[in-house]
Amino acid sequence: MDALALGSLFAGIKKKAKVVVVSNRQPWFHERVAEGIRAFRPASGLVTALEPIIEAVGGTWIAHGSASADRLVVDRKNRVRLPEENPRFTLRRVWLTPKEEEGYYYGISNKALWPLCHIVYTKPRFSRKDWEIYRDVNRRFSDTVLDEVGDSPAIVFIQDYHLALLPRYLRNARPDLKLIQFWHIPWPNREAFRIFPWSEEVLDGLLGNDLLGFHIQYHCNNFLDTVEKTLEAMVDYENFSIYRGGRPTYIRPFPISVDFGQIGIDAGSSIVQEKKESFIRQLGPGAEGTKIYVGADRIDYTKGIPERLRGFDLLLQRNPDLKRRVTLLQLAAPSRTQIEEYGRINDEIENLVEEINRRHGADPWKPVHFLRDHHDYHAVLAAYHMADVVMVTSLHDGMNLVAKEFVAARTDGDGVLLLSQYTGAARELTDAVLINPYDTDQLADAMLRAFRMPEEERRRRMARMRAQVEKNNIYEWGRKIFEELLKRVHLGKSRSEAKQVAMAGSVIRRLNPHLAAVKFLTLRCSSAILKKVHARLTGNGVMR
Ligand code: G6P
Repeated sequence: MDALALGSLFAGIKKKAKVVVVSNRQPWFHERVAEGIRAFRPASGLVTALEPIIEAVGGTWIAHGSASADRLVVDRKNRVRLPEENPRFTLRRVWLTPKEEEGYYYGISNKALWPLCHIVYTKPRFSRKDWEIYRDVNRRFSDTVLDEVGDSPAIVFIQDYHLALLPRYLRNARPDLKLIQFWHIPWPNREAFRIFPWSEEVLDGLLGNDLLGFHIQYHCNNFLDTVEKTLEAMVDYENFSIYRGGRPTYIRPFPISVDFGQIGIDAGSSIVQEKKESFIRQLGPGAEGTKIYVGADRIDYTKGIPERLRGFDLLLQRNPDLKRRVTLLQLAAPSRTQIEEYGRINDEIENLVEEINRRHGADPWKPVHFLRDHHDYHAVLAAYHMADVVMVTSLHDGMNLVAKEFVAARTDGDGVLLLSQYTGAARELTDAVLINPYDTDQLADAMLRAFRMPEEERRRRMARMRAQVEKNNIYEWGRKIFEELLKRVHLGKSRSEAKQVAMAGSVIRRLNPHLAAVKFLTLRCSSAILKKVHARLTGNGVMR
């Protein structure tokens, strides 16, 4: 599956329904630079994956406009066509006040849901005030989506944990909308999730979707279990679906990916070559002829950057002969810097880098080059291209697209991937050297193994990983999701039919949800039967 094939699949869909993508993070942000205003792509796995899809299918992407020049380029409806050089889709921006950003983005999304779902020993923090703002902002996104789709039938593709309540708001307002949500981070086990003070509301929100996707089956199972133990809903383990209010939500794994073909082409471009030369200059003569170990992450406590540095330190302590023969290049994008834990991890990394360089460095060789900046797409590809080894040491990660991007960029078929076994990617990239980032000894051993790995073995592993990412590329991900939706819903469904379904839902909500009969009805009966039930119960005065 490629961009063209996905585009033609959508040509049919778009005759029947509008297509709208919604996320917190926008695919492009606008900043003032010396020459005027320029568009940049943010460091976000979600954006890396979704941008090729929206370019292939067109439609509108609704997201938070958060950058300093974002307002200067939009029209009266807050829309801008992108990408600038060859516009293929519309970005519609939602504006938030600093207080809203604080409660919704920093507060509930990143101080509560992010650590709650990742379980990496960083405590989630909850605040009722933030929760109220989170609700309001989800409503604001709902109003924007409703305005965007007007009266037309539409498929709304919602992204991630920032918008957990949005599907319920949309479902209540427009029962006929087709709603899909993809949860880009892990879904934890029920014991971890149950401490979330508004867990029922979040689950009910997500069950407003027709289809809810996670990266791997394990997260789907965790979700089903969480719902079963928390909510009044019918969980059908045979079909992986959940019935609430008479409507099903299908829960499915869709391992996300990257644009394999395009990354390969871009990796060979002259701009990547220039970036590579600039890195080589930055690393200086000490790095010449050394094996280059690369890390490329947002500075986030889930990414295991200190663990990686400790592993590298141990590698050098145990193998002094590797001094002047290995160099670590760490590209690190600042992220969520207003949150205390992110400030702390940043300091910890800087201290570790300083310590390692002091302990092992020997002029002009510097063991670790820590480049804290927003490195653009081409710079990251250049780093992958010059790497002998790429290290992904996440303590927990839904998928991790650095791993897949690296593999896609290595058209030369060489390079070693060290990959945390706690990433979704480890399920597919079994030819990587899998590691436990909590185990520093094992990490140092794996780094040594990568150093010594014979070329023939490196190429064999890389070829298999490339075949996997090529097969399950991002367009294939998109195809699977939309085909699954089309199996479950009819795009041509009339408004009146949609109203009947909504009425059936209201019957169920008004009946005592503990009754076994109600559960049976929820699962098996058509809306026509439920209408009769409704009439009879109302006639008998059982319900008002
Ligand atoms: C993860 C999340 C995305 C998010 C990205 C970057 O990949 O799943 O939703 O966009 O991190 O984080 P940020 O907070 O900068 O959007």
